[in-house]
Amino acid sequence: MKILVTGGLGYIGSHTVVELLNDNYEVIVIDNLSNSKESVKDNIEKITNKEFELVIGDVCNKDIVEDIFKNNKIDAVIHFAGYKAVGESVAKPLMYYHNNLFSTINLLEVMEKYECRRIVFSSSATVYGKPESLPIKEDFKLSTTNPYGTTKLMIEDILRDLYVSNNDWSIAILRYFNPVGAHKSGLIGEDPNGIPNNLMPYIVKVANKELECLSIFGDDYDTKDGTGVRDYIHVVDLSLGHIKAIEYVLKNKGVDEYNLGTGKGYSVLEMVKTFEKVNNVNVNKKIVERRPGDIDACYADSRKAKEILGFEAKKGIEEMCLDSYNYVKKNL
Ligand code: NAD
Ligand code: UFG
Repeated sequence: MKILVTGGLGYIGSHTVVELLNDNYEVIVIDNLSNSKESVKDNIEKITNKEFELVIGDVCNKDIVEDIFKNNKIDAVIHFAGYKAVGESVAKPLMYYHNNLFSTINLLEVMEKYECRRIVFSSSATVYGKPESLPIKEDFKLSTTNPYGTTKLMIEDILRDLYVSNNDWSIAILRYFNPVGAHKSGLIGEDPNGIPNNLMPYIVKVANKELECLSIFGDDYDTKDGTGVRDYIHVVDLSLGHIKAIEYVLKNKGVDEYNLGTGKGYSVLEMVKTFEKVNNVNVNKKIVERRPGDIDACYADSRKAKEILGFEAKKGIEEMCLDSYNYVKKNL
């Protein structure tokens, strides 16, 4: 089976390519290196001792995508390529709508033309907006609070419409909660440019003395200790979720959405304390104002992915904290 992975050199994509190769899938990656490095390919090949084809190109360029389908029999696609920073999307909405939507529409048009109608798409828990209750189930009302989230919701709608137009499609929409951690080898992981927006990469840089102090955004939320609660999922578990989703779309038709999370929520303080303990380091921290747009708590009802895809996250926050720090220490 040959799988095309868009954005396959990125954080989640690279871990998923590892698991696909481990499972003996043939893999082609297309990535424009807008948020990744070509060296990730060598590292994936080192981990797996297997090779794969890399096309350095933009999914927004239809000719490049079409060439891939002309020259290969692609059985299914995992579509990671896109921009993902919430704050940047507020500042540069057109850049987000352009990249995330055009790349997806191009890809789907080419897939339709070549009658490859199986796709796994990277969506996000951000499509639940401010949930009315917890844990979050897939049939909750959808809404968004920023252009990045809106691109995810628009793409979900496009995929649902596509299935209505042709029931031959098989589409798994995966809504990720908060991916953290890295591969045990320390060869691939999360490498945000500049100052990180997300909690775990920020903690890691403070522990590593690259940044001075973690700002904890608010301690007056309606949560166990007042700090924000999220559902952190180890990126290797998340990648295994994609393998289950690929297996499913290869065998079944339809369109459906799945939460990929652990189903457990941890507060910012719990994450920081666990990080300090398992890595035996100190993380300077201070409480500051809430970050605009943040919600109190967000965690998944993860039963649907378990029941239908057979996926269940196994790794706990200790391993997430260990592996995140290990990656950065090895890549100083
Ligand atoms: P990432 O930025 O590390 O990976 C995305 C990859 O896509 C990068 O290698 C980038 O170079 C590439 N890319 C972007 N636009 C492209 C284009 N037009 N053509 C070709 N390549 C392109 O991000 P990630 O964390 O691995 O996320 C992967 C997907 O999962 C994204 O769609 C993201 O929105 C979604 N997601 C991520 C998170 C998260 O917290 N990391 C949460 C929910 C959803
Ligand atoms: N936080 C801090 N300090 C920081 C960074 C984060 O206290 O420096 C807190 C936040 O306030 C929040 C928690 O840590 O309570 C997690 O924040 P992240 O920025 O790591 O993650 P979010 O849940 O805000 O957002 C992530 C992705 C979004 C995605 C969303 C829903 O970044 O793209 O999960 O899945 F939309």
